[in-house]
Amino acid sequence: MSISVVILAAGQGTRMKSNISKVLHPVGGKKMVLRAVDTAEKITDQRPVLVVGRDEGQVRGAVGERAQFVTQSVQQGTGHAVEQATDLLRGKTDLVVVFYADMPLLRAETLQRLIDAQQDNRGPVTLLTLNSPNTRGFGRIIRDEHGVVINIVEEADCTPEQLLIWELNAGVYVFDSVWLWDNLSRLTPKGMNKEYYLTDMVGLAADQGLPVFGVESDDVDEVIGVNTRVHLSEAEAALRRRVTRHWMLEGVTILDPATTYIDEDAKIAAETIILPNTHIQGSKTEIGGHCEIGPNSIIRDSRIGDHCTVFNSIIEESTLENYVDIGPFSHLRPGAYLAEHVHMGNFGEVKNSHVGPYTRMGHFSYIGDADIGADVNIGAGTITVNFDGLQKNKTVVGDHAFIGSDTMLIAPITVEEDGRTAAGSVVTRDVPSGYIAVGVPARNREYHPLGSPESNSGDQNKNQ
Ligand code: UD1
Ligand code: CA
Repeated sequence: MSISVVILAAGQGTRMKSNISKVLHPVGGKKMVLRAVDTAEKITDQRPVLVVGRDEGQVRGAVGERAQFVTQSVQQGTGHAVEQATDLLRGKTDLVVVFYADMPLLRAETLQRLIDAQQDNRGPVTLLTLNSPNTRGFGRIIRDEHGVVINIVEEADCTPEQLLIWELNAGVYVFDSVWLWDNLSRLTPKGMNKEYYLTDMVGLAADQGLPVFGVESDDVDEVIGVNTRVHLSEAEAALRRRVTRHWMLEGVTILDPATTYIDEDAKIAAETIILPNTHIQGSKTEIGGHCEIGPNSIIRDSRIGDHCTVFNSIIEESTLENYVDIGPFSHLRPGAYLAEHVHMGNFGEVKNSHVGPYTRMGHFSYIGDADIGADVNIGAGTITVNFDGLQKNKTVVGDHAFIGSDTMLIAPITVEEDGRTAAGSVVTRDVPSGYIAVGVPARNREYHPLGSPESNSGDQNKNQ
């Protein structure tokens, strides 16, 4: 059974009061027209046919090679829009699936249910219906006294009795292709704007004595059609509900789904807890298990291991290995890598740097373009002075080094393994292992731990 898909995206979308086409508006961070193409690609290998009109160039540009395009230069209704695909599709496939690009939550599973139903239908069309008292301006499904679908009437054309019908047309159809292409030209213009309604194909089939199948939607959200910006926000909230529900059922605790924003392509492992007002963005984001994320955190295109804590912080294009704990008010910028058990406290910033395991930076530090070893202590207020006005320079700090509070590391610079800097030092020369850099600009002195016999030997006052 070969299948082609026609997606309608030519309309003016007047009710959006927007200076761009409705289908270019994003829902859940992705343009509606791209969501429609995603859905089509899940049910057939044939490239979908996209009917374009308003802002044709921009819509084509957004979709690229993923669809074939036909232009509906004057928008004369949904039936007229489908007719534009006749030359491209007539005689090519057995079934034609038609849906509207303004239904961002439509699922491929539902299209598949309709396709399956149409295969049992000796009549020419199966359509998606919805039973709801919230009629949203949808067309009403009209059945005869035997319960057979005989027509769809648009809300604007309904009699007062028909307005009371709660069985609604979602706007998704599977047609027998021979019948569709043979009969589209029989539509006649209707309503105030003299439009050719695709919905009238149902009446045409019934008039020919052919059965029309209705398949009821099992998800009220998926039939949300976006006509206004109110609907846009409803679609946004519904998509968010769908995504948060998915992760909750996978074992993630989400304290307040209404203020938790998770992109569809991000991944989160079980036993992680997400606190309110947290944004998990980007298709590359993966969060491990047993983490606590939030509140008020943003994670974008980053990988976070297991047992991590991200408290009131922002993480962009970075990696956290297991047992890392950051925040509050930490900012990881692109290229930050924090190895296992790193602790980064209040107001830290790390960019394009590798930070080794068990290293601690508790307060107010900036680490940029640096390679920091394992078990390093980075004192409060430490700064890698990585920019000399012309270029970015690298800082290297060896394992077990101790960087005193308020140290300026003027890059390019290396503090070797076990090297130290004193509080307030401005370090312009490399610090060898076993030495401590002291002063402004810092001088290297041999370092002896406090209390050791040599601990006073390098004391400057004594030497003077
Ligand atoms: C349509 C249905 C209605 C259904 C509802 C579900 C018709 C006549 N009505 O109404 O029964 O309950 O969807 O959401 O089909 N478009 C074109 N060219 C045109 C007109 C529209 O490409 O000339 C496209 C639009 O871009 C849009 C889609 O078709 O993506 C639907 O058009 P819209 O005006 O939103 O139809 P509704 O009034 O919502
Ligand atoms: Ca619509």
